[in-house]
Amino acid sequence: MKRTIAISLHVNDRPVAAEVEPRTTLADFLRTTLALTGTHLGCEHGVCGACNVLLDGQVARSCLMLAVQADGQRVVTVEGLSPAAGLSALQQAFKSHHALQCGFCTPGFLVSAHALLQEEPTPSRERIVETLSGNLCRCTGYIPIVDAVEAVARRRRAGDDGAAST
Ligand code: FES
Ligand code: FES
Repeated sequence: MKRTIAISLHVNDRPVAAEVEPRTTLADFLRTTLALTGTHLGCEHGVCGACNVLLDGQVARSCLMLAVQADGQRVVTVEGLSPAAGLSALQQAFKSHHALQCGFCTPGFLVSAHALLQEEPTPSRERIVETLSGNLCRCTGYIPIVDAVEAVARRRRAGDDGAAST
């Protein structure tokens, strides 16, 4: 018989209670148990950032964590970054700047960029590049991605309320 452990946490502001095997990663729990497949799995060893989620507001590699380690915490996945309708300012900027091609890396970039913009509402381009250096993309060459995040920061700097939420 498989041994399981009871966990309870909040995922995208909803309470979740589940029984998980101790070896289940947070990424697998989110994708398989909760069907939150926006969290992608690329390298599965902490390099690519495709699996990034927010854990109590901080970016975390969900492939490197066990689901049991998220017990009692607040997890936000890329699905949780979307407004009830339409796109967030950051998502819209990704779309406008053609900041994705295959889209595999995009959830991780959105999570990393969202966290940066929460902490530093108007980061410099250098700061954006530095922050996103923890995410790998095989398609875009990174420039459109950095442009998209910088566009949100620039609109905020100009006092455009439409970009107030990421
Ligand atoms: S899948 Fe987690 S860092 Fe690559
Ligand atoms: S858009 Fe394809 S890997 Fe980034």
